[in-house]
Amino acid sequence: MGKIIVGKVSDITPGKLCKVSIDGKDILVTNLDGEYFAVDDTCTHAGASLSEGKIEGSTVTCGWHGAQFNCKNGNLEKFPAKIRNLGTYKVVVESDDVFVEV
Ligand code: FES
Repeated sequence: MGKIIVGKVSDITPGKLCKVSIDGKDILVTNLDGEYFAVDDTCTHAGASLSEGKIEGSTVTCGWHGAQFNCKNGNLEKFPAKIRNLGTYKVVVESDDVFVEV
């Protein structure tokens, strides 16, 4: 598909959970100390939007049942049951624009 603009650098500030929809797919974009990452926004447990959860360091915690995922690589970090990791996407910053490659 290609590179899709998801916002300005000034919009995606550190600690903010930014949900974007690209072709019907919800993606969570984060800024971790000036580095941008994109993973699936939909929790692999029961489908909550992770953008409505909490972020601490590079870990996002699902607001529904507390599953924790790493925003950098999509890996499940903590949950009582084994659930799938999140899909990841490449993020590119050009000038003041943030793009996700899908
Ligand atoms: S929906 Fe995310 S932990 Fe259950």
